This record gives sequence, structure tokens and C-alpha cells, in this order.
Amino acid sequence: MREPRIAIVTGANNGIGFETAIGMAKAGYHTVLACRSEAKGQTAMADMKKRVPDGQFTLLLLDLSDFDSVRSFAAAFREQFDHLDVLINNAGVLDYSGRKAGNGYELQLMTNHLGHMLLTSLLLDMMPDMRESRIVSLSSVAHRGAKIHFDDIHCEHVEGVAAYSQSKLACLLFGDELDKKLRAAGREILSLSVHPGGSDSGLFDDMSRMQYYLMKIIAPLITHSNASAAQPALHAALSPNVKGGDYYGPQGFKELRGKVGPAERDASAKDPAAARRLWEVSEELIGEKFRL
Ligand SMILES: NC(=O)c1ccc[n+]([C@@H]2O[C@H](COP(=O)([O-])OP(=O)(O)OC[C@H]3O[C@@H](n4cnc5c(N)ncnc54)[C@H](OP(=O)(O)O)[C@@H]3O)[C@@H](O)[C@H]2O)c1
Repeated sequence: MREPRIAIVTGANNGIGFETAIGMAKAGYHTVLACRSEAKGQTAMADMKKRVPDGQFTLLLLDLSDFDSVRSFAAAFREQFDHLDVLINNAGVLDYSGRKAGNGYELQLMTNHLGHMLLTSLLLDMMPDMRESRIVSLSSVAHRGAKIHFDDIHCEHVEGVAAYSQSKLACLLFGDELDKKLRAAGREILSLSVHPGGSDSGLFDDMSRMQYYLMKIIAPLITHSNASAAQPALHAALSPNVKGGDYYGPQGFKELRGKVGPAERDASAKDPAAARRLWEVSEELIGEKFRL
């Protein structure tokens, strides 16, 4: 492999992404923290340097809810680095109030799926064609029971967490479809998906206060730490014993905690026609073809 090995972790300043970035640095990767806030990113990087004193970190700004920001990030990355080994599409937002991105798109579809799809498209040509090159997509147990609302993709008529669930199903279908396309093109690069189980991260900060405090009491009983929740992504990024299209998560109670292993997919995440259709719809929403 070309040295230094380079990884990008999106949403690396908090929660699971923070621990994933530490894991990649410990594994010897120069780790690029792709964060939307300079201040939060700098604080996280200082903390990481305390945890991994010989680790190499670079902070670059990225707002996945804004295609222009994704393009600027990709350009800045190209200026500073000559290749990319591992892209961990970790950042995510869970919204309860129907928020929109600046371009009017549903915020979670935009941030969790479309922003990451564009980012991957803009960086794929920098990845050496070998099986150690990995793209890791973060899904969720919340993809279960979800569907892609092709007739209402911005979830104008969908209640509660269904829009989040749609976005996390989209991450999984994207990971699968990307791997299929890589295989069809005869490429060695692997696309894998993971879910972290459950962990008490910043993801739930926008819950109603009652739900939030209830979660604070229950979460420690059934979920695991952010460090443990980072293990599926680290496994997908680093293990020699994986293949493209694999889906990993914790193996304990309801897949919310525990050691890493193969994760269970809902029927909706085994639907190649939906994955193909989502790919095409996503290209239209992004406004350009994926650069394979
Ligand atoms: N924790 C769980 O129980 C759980 C369960 C299933 C799946 N997941 C998935 O795990 C991943 C990590 O989430 P987490 O639990 O660690 O949550 P978190 O603590 O809230 O971290 C999310 C990260 O994403 C970043 N982010 C949000 N919107 C962004 C944007 N527009 N552009 C760039 N970065 C953005 C956040 O940045 P700011 O700090 O600036 O907001 C933060 O760094 C997500 O994909 C989530 O869906 C988590």
C-alpha cells in the first residue's frame, strides 16, 4: 500500500465518528476529520492527539447538507493529498421537525445519503484499485420497516422518524449498489455497510425532553459505548476478512450492543430494484452522474 495510508471520517468530531477516527489513527492511517464546525473539529482533534500522541490528523471542513461545501471539501482534499485509502461515511443527523437543507431537500436524505453519495463520487478516482481501499456506509437498525418514498422523496407527507429511517435505508442500498457497480466494472475497491447498534451520542439531542431523559435512563442498559459502536465501521474498514457488499453490526440483544458480526437486513434492504432506482433518483437530485 502507498504510505502514508489515508482515511477520511465524516462527522468525526463527536460520538461514533470520534471513536472511529481514533481507531483509524491507531491503525496507522493519517486521518482526515471531515467536520462542519471548525471549533468543534479543532477541539476533537486536540482530544484525539491526547489519545493517540503519534497519530496524524488533519481537519477539513465539510457540510454534507450543502453540495457546494461537499465540492469544496473534495477540492481541498485533492490539494493536500494524492490518494485516499478509506472513506467512512459516518456523519448523520436525526431530525424530528421536518427540517430542510438550504436547497429545500429533506435534511436527513440530503445529509445522510445524498451528500455522502456526491462525496464518494468526487473522491473515488483517488482510491487505489485494491481490496484495502474501502468505502464504509453507516446505516442503522432504524432501516428496518423503512421504505424509500419514491413518490414523496422529501417526506412531505411522512411522520416522525420515517424520514430518518428512509435515509438510513438509502445509505445501505447505496453501499450495496456501489459495490455491485464496482464489481461490474472489474474494480478491487470494496464498498461495505455497517450499523453501530445503539449508543448515547449526540444523535438524540433534538428529542423531546421527556424522550431524551427516558433514553438517558434506558440507553446504558441496552446499548453500548461510542467506542464499541465504532467497531463495526473499523472492522469494515480494516479487516482482511470482509467482502464487498457485506453488512456488519453488533451481535448482542436486538443488535444494539456487542461484538461485531454479520448484521440482519430487512427485506427492504434486499431489493436490488429499489437500490437501482434509488441510485438513479439520487443522481437526478444531485444533478450529475456518479463518477465510477
Ligand atoms: N448513536 C446511535 O445509536 C446510532 C444508531 C444507528 C446509527 N447511527 C449512525 O451513526 C452515525 C454517527 O452518529 P452518532 O450517533 O455518532 O451521532 P452524533 O454524536 O450526533 O454525531 C454525528 C456527527 O455527524 C455530524 N454532522 C451532522 N450533520 C452534518 C452535516 N450537515 N455535515 C457534516 N457533518 C454533520 C455531526 O456534526 P456536529 O457535531 O457539528 O453536529 C457529528 O459530528 C450516524 O450516521 C448515525 O445515523 C447512530
